[in-house]
Amino acid sequence: MQPRDLSALTPYEAGRGTEEVAREVGMDPDDLVKLSSNENPHGPSPRAVEAMHEHADGVHHYPKAAHADLQAALAEQRDLAPEQVWLANGGDGALDYLARAMLEPGDRVLVPHPGFAYYAMSVRYHHGRVETYPLRREEDFEQRPANVLDAYDGQRIVYLISPHSPTGREVDREAILEVADGVDDDTVVLVDEAYGAFSEAPSKVDLVRERDDVAVLRTFSKSHGLAGVRLGYLLAPEAWGDAYARINTPFAVNELALRAGLAALEDEEHVEQSVESATWAREFIHENLAAETWPSQGNFVLAAVGDAGEVFEAAKERGVIVRDATSFGLPGCIRITCGTRAETTRAVEVLNEVLAMRDPYEGTGAPGSFPATSSGTPGGGFGGDAPDPDGTGGE
Ligand SMILES: Cc1ncc(COP(=O)(O)O)c(C=O)c1O
Repeated sequence: MQPRDLSALTPYEAGRGTEEVAREVGMDPDDLVKLSSNENPHGPSPRAVEAMHEHADGVHHYPKAAHADLQAALAEQRDLAPEQVWLANGGDGALDYLARAMLEPGDRVLVPHPGFAYYAMSVRYHHGRVETYPLRREEDFEQRPANVLDAYDGQRIVYLISPHSPTGREVDREAILEVADGVDDDTVVLVDEAYGAFSEAPSKVDLVRERDDVAVLRTFSKSHGLAGVRLGYLLAPEAWGDAYARINTPFAVNELALRAGLAALEDEEHVEQSVESATWAREFIHENLAAETWPSQGNFVLAAVGDAGEVFEAAKERGVIVRDATSFGLPGCIRITCGTRAETTRAVEVLNEVLAMRDPYEGTGAPGSFPATSSGTPGGGFGGDAPDPDGTGGE
């Protein structure tokens, strides 16, 4: 007896945990700076922690009231009806719900390459097929409507990310409209705003209010520091009616996550601190790292370093964990999450030390050297014509 043929599905490759790496390099976990998973360096919203403590002794009940309350609170905040708020087990869960609601077996979707691995994974779980549109380094990773529409051929879902991970680049409202207007009536454009709180640009949720073919994804994982409780949501057009009620797994969002979400929504101070700190850190990295970086509107910065595997290992040995962006489809690059001031300063110092020790002609934008990849495919991953659309890199 075996499961069905799962060979086309790729295991998710999460950023490595602090404990795991600390054991490997023989360091105290407290001495490690972990900037590999775009987590909130200031911890969870204190109000959310308090709410979870307060409600812990009620978890023998199924979560009912808190689900309705959080839906209502988010609906009010976004000026939508509660049915339009699809609460889920993380943003990942919301992506699953979108696929579950939209895809018939064999339907195709269009995802950016490089991009977030879980789009493709989720679609495949739901018996869909994945096609890509390119983000090109020479276009500074812009999600250009022309590139999206060139690759468009009737796919059911088109995924846009704003700000995009791992590049940090945004998609503006006009570009989203150009894509939404350029695709068929039964194609939905998903705007992933997992990092939206860190951007200076407003959310594109107004398009959800105005149209029946744009949905927006948000999460409590980043700006509210609740990655561990798994709470995210899709904002869906009113025209989709009771689709959520039909596809939602019963009680998919747990009571403590819901209580944490309700409290975190009230915790403006924590969000403000998180956004302010990320804004400072991304500028600091951009200005001080001795490598080519791209301007970011997220809580992370992409840097071209040549052999990313080597830089990752050397930084890790010195207690700084970043993300080798090869798994996102960007060989030659690392992604550095914005830490606290102390963490970010240390990370930049360590990375600069590591970069300085290397062959001066390798990586970092020297002519002819980019990207020097361990897989030996110069330029691979930037053209967008790569055969593997998803890589396996996540958060
Ligand atoms: C671009 C993007 N979208 C969605 C998610 C999903 O986040 P979560 O499932 O933690 O809400 C992530 C996680 O890192 C992400 O990077």
